[in-house]
Amino acid sequence: MHNPDLVILDVNLATMDPSIAAPYGAIEQAAIFVKEGNITWLGQMDALPEFDALSTPVIQGKGAWITPGLIDCHTHILFAGSRAQEFEQRLQGVSYQEIAAQGGGIASTVRATRQADVEALFVLGKTRLNSLMKEGVTTVESKSGYGLDLDNELKLLEMNRLLDTHHPVTVQSTFLGAHAVPPEFKGRAEQYVDLVCDVMLPKVAQEKLADAVDVFCENVGFSFEQTKRVFDKATELGLKVKCHAEQLSNQHGSELVASFKGLSADHIEYLDETGVIAMASAGTVAVLLPTAYYFLRETQQPPIALLREHNVAMALASDFNPGTAPLCSLRLVLNMGCTLFRLTPEEALAGVTVNAAKALGLGDRGMLQVGLRADLAMWNIQHPAELSYQFGVNDLLNLWILGKLIQ
Ligand code: NIG
Ligand code: FE
Repeated sequence: MHNPDLVILDVNLATMDPSIAAPYGAIEQAAIFVKEGNITWLGQMDALPEFDALSTPVIQGKGAWITPGLIDCHTHILFAGSRAQEFEQRLQGVSYQEIAAQGGGIASTVRATRQADVEALFVLGKTRLNSLMKEGVTTVESKSGYGLDLDNELKLLEMNRLLDTHHPVTVQSTFLGAHAVPPEFKGRAEQYVDLVCDVMLPKVAQEKLADAVDVFCENVGFSFEQTKRVFDKATELGLKVKCHAEQLSNQHGSELVASFKGLSADHIEYLDETGVIAMASAGTVAVLLPTAYYFLRETQQPPIALLREHNVAMALASDFNPGTAPLCSLRLVLNMGCTLFRLTPEEALAGVTVNAAKALGLGDRGMLQVGLRADLAMWNIQHPAELSYQFGVNDLLNLWILGKLIQ
């Protein structure tokens, strides 16, 4: 007999499990059992196994839908300050690249973030995690990258670990020391890459502060060669890599990250078919960031048709950051993935569940499947497409993380 510690009856499950042939991997009129934080049984109500109904907490789902807890696999939630004035400048016609060249952009957030003390950063991080969690998010990737010197990068990565411990949401920590050349290294990008490779990365690896390493490979960021140096060192230290690639131009960062069997290439508006093929053969996930595309008023679309044709897994993420995506909502991202990139609502939901887990290298979540974590979001919706279709309606009924009721 099953001995669950939580039973949810009379629900529809969008399992997102590709081995279940129905759209969304759906199992309708279903139930799900949880024990010690994991899913121990799921299936149709008419196949419900016996359990001790007197001693087990039972939730009546009344036909609600359950999805895996949502996963935001690309964010920059740890920053201080605001870039609202640059927003004004950009609306007057100054480009993102021009602002960066004038010492604004990422550098301006670096100044504010270096000044912020850990208490202030903790509150900022917690507030942003809360906003995401209210929408059903249970795992968030958080990058460093606004410190850009050893102490401040470590401060941000330690904050990721602190938030992971003190907040119900899982925080995956990514080291993005190569986000921009800091002001004190202006004109000396190579020397800054030396610092990243020779000092920061060994320390980050030694202290186990990062789950992955990211580089902004771009004409306003780091070159292909510089990115490769960081990836070589990260790989030598046993860290997985991912890349901000092909956001503003084609620097072939996606091919590069694929050649390292990297977790993901993110943004990829300017990706070409050679890059798509390289990602397909390496199993590198395409992380699409429609809010940055929208906020920069980009017109170059990521190559969705080619990604589909070559069976590259597509994830969707918020990229929440002060410069290109000050929009802290994964539900908005679901909608924009469909309206701006023409993803189907099913692809969009896979993008914030099963494929987002893949982009983080997490095999224990992202689907409803026996043995996986009981990170469950229960929604007051008639069909899973509603999660991408409607926005701004509070339709989250309950959220469980590791089987524990959070809201
Ligand atoms: O993902 N592209 C690089 N990093 C961020 C933007 C950072 C910023 O402008 O502060 C992004 O879009
Ligand atoms: Fe980003």
